[in-house]
Amino acid sequence: MREKQRKSTGRGTILAVGLLAAVALVAGWSAASGQEGEPVYSAFNGKVSYKVYCMNCHGVGGKGDGYLADSLKAKPTDLTAMAVKNGGEFPFERAMKSVDGRTPGHGSREMPVWGDAFLWPEDNPERRAEVQQKIGDLVEYLRSIQEPPVAK
Ligand code: HEC
Repeated sequence: MREKQRKSTGRGTILAVGLLAAVALVAGWSAASGQEGEPVYSAFNGKVSYKVYCMNCHGVGGKGDGYLADSLKAKPTDLTAMAVKNGGEFPFERAMKSVDGRTPGHGSREMPVWGDAFLWPEDNPERRAEVQQKIGDLVEYLRSIQEPPVAK
C-alpha cells in the first residue's frame, strides 16, 4: 500500500515537471514569435510582479484601495480606469513611462521610481533590457484589467 502511494506521488511529480517544461516551451515560443525588435510582453508575468510590488498601494484588483493607500497623501491611481480616462484607449506608452518614473514628470511623486528600483544593484545593457521587459509585462497586465475590457 505504502509502496503504491509513493509510486503515484512520483508520477505526479513527473507530470508536474512535464507540464512546467511544456509551459516553458510555449512561453519561449511565443516570445520568439514576436516581430524582430518588437517586444512581447506577458500579462501573466506582469500579474506576478504586480502582486509583489504594486498591490500594497493599488489594491488586489487595481482600484487604488491597497492597505497602504490611507497612509499616502495622494490616492493611488485606479489602474482599472486608465483606458476610460484616456477616451477608451489604453495609454500603453504613458503607462510605461509613469511606472518607470525616470523621465521627470510634474509635481511630486509618492510612487517608487520602478525604473531605478528594478535596475538596482547593477546597471548594464542586459539589466536595462530586463527592466524594460518587467515594466512592459506589468503594463500588459494593467491593460488586461481595464474596465470595461479593452482590445489589444
Ligand atoms: C507606495 C505606494 C505605491 C506603490 C507600491 C505603487 N504605486 Fe503606483 N501610484 C501610487 C500613487 C500614490 C500614484 C498617484 C501618483 C503619485 O502620487 O505618485 C500612483 C500612480 C500610478 C500610475 C499612474 C497612472 C496614470 O494615470 O498615469 C500607474 C500606471 C501606477 N501607479 C502603476 C503602478 C505599478 C505598476 C506599481 C508596481 C510596480 C505601482 N504603481 C506601485 C502609489 C503606489
